[in-house]
Amino acid sequence: MKCALTIKISDGLKRVFYLPEYGTALQLLKFLEKSAQESTPNRVKDLTQRYEFSPEDTAAVLGEGSFGKVIQAKDKVTKQVVAIKQISKMWKRQDQIMRMHLEIEFLWLLSEEHHQSMAKLLDVYEDHQTLSLVMELIEGASLQKWIQECIVKNTFNEQYALKLFKPICESLHFVHLRGIVHRDIKLDNILLQGYTYEKPILIETISPKLIDFGLSTLLLQGEKSQVAVGSLAFLSPEIVKGESHDHQTDVFSLGVLLYIMLTGRFPFVANQREQTFYNIKNKIINFSQPYWATMVEKDPKERIRLDEVLRHPWIASANISVPRQ
Ligand SMILES: Nc1ncnc2c1ncn2[C@@H]1O[C@H](COP(=O)(O)OP(=O)(O)OP(=O)(O)O)[C@@H](O)[C@H]1O
Ligand SMILES: [Mg+2]
Repeated sequence: MKCALTIKISDGLKRVFYLPEYGTALQLLKFLEKSAQESTPNRVKDLTQRYEFSPEDTAAVLGEGSFGKVIQAKDKVTKQVVAIKQISKMWKRQDQIMRMHLEIEFLWLLSEEHHQSMAKLLDVYEDHQTLSLVMELIEGASLQKWIQECIVKNTFNEQYALKLFKPICESLHFVHLRGIVHRDIKLDNILLQGYTYEKPILIETISPKLIDFGLSTLLLQGEKSQVAVGSLAFLSPEIVKGESHDHQTDVFSLGVLLYIMLTGRFPFVANQREQTFYNIKNKIINFSQPYWATMVEKDPKERIRLDEVLRHPWIASANISVPRQ
């Protein structure tokens, strides 16, 4: 017997889960009820009662954007130093606020089993102006900074790229296995724990962490999304064409990321936006190594899948240790 469980997500948005039996449906319902209770933001408590921080202190600001700020803070109880992403709700449309809540839901889901290549969500606070996401602090600069340093010093190295790329793939695979499509894989959204710009490091001590689920979505097997989101340089052809997409869109962005990690160049970016779109849809990149060429395959059905990427001999060879030059 098959059982259809319809869950109302918001007014006008429902989700149907097809489950093999009634018992499984009840289990899922219980699980969802429990996680909804646990993820209810901490509306009553004041964030400053628990965390010590000063939003005005520029040294404590880890990141800043259109959303608000990410600030370093200290838990007064556990003494743990954390990162608090504060998202302003002012002047936001209802769908934008819903997107913020979705980011929180995904982070809760991913934090449950906690993968080492991600920052765990620890707590959420909300008042009428701000949503505050308390996360594990990642101490290290972004992959963007790493690439900048490689460009300045001309230190692009296939072994380093591989060492960093493998855990990024593993982290994304963990995300995909839970049905989540990240949709914003790019240099800025990979933080390298243990990496300080322009300070000598051992590549073995750097641990990449995937962040920012602000554009993510959840797709069940066979489901596709029609909403076009992402960052221009990393967009997949299906998104540029306005076609529906699934997890394979992340694989394309990952291919672009690897190309940059190996060469220091953005494969499709041109001066004109229209030309960039054209390149994403049509430009074939010729590169001698076959391992990533299939990641930037235009047709998502022909594109290599993430589990195949992880089994690829090039990725498997990442365990050999290399000293930094
Ligand atoms: N857990 C963390 N630990 C340390 N720094 C963090 C953490 N989370 C985010 N940051 C810093 O804050 C920046 C912005 O965070 P995030 O990527 O989540 O926001 P965003 O929505 O992408 O904002 P924007 O699109 O405007 O960059 C990151 O690039 C990073 O520098
Ligand atoms: Mg970001």
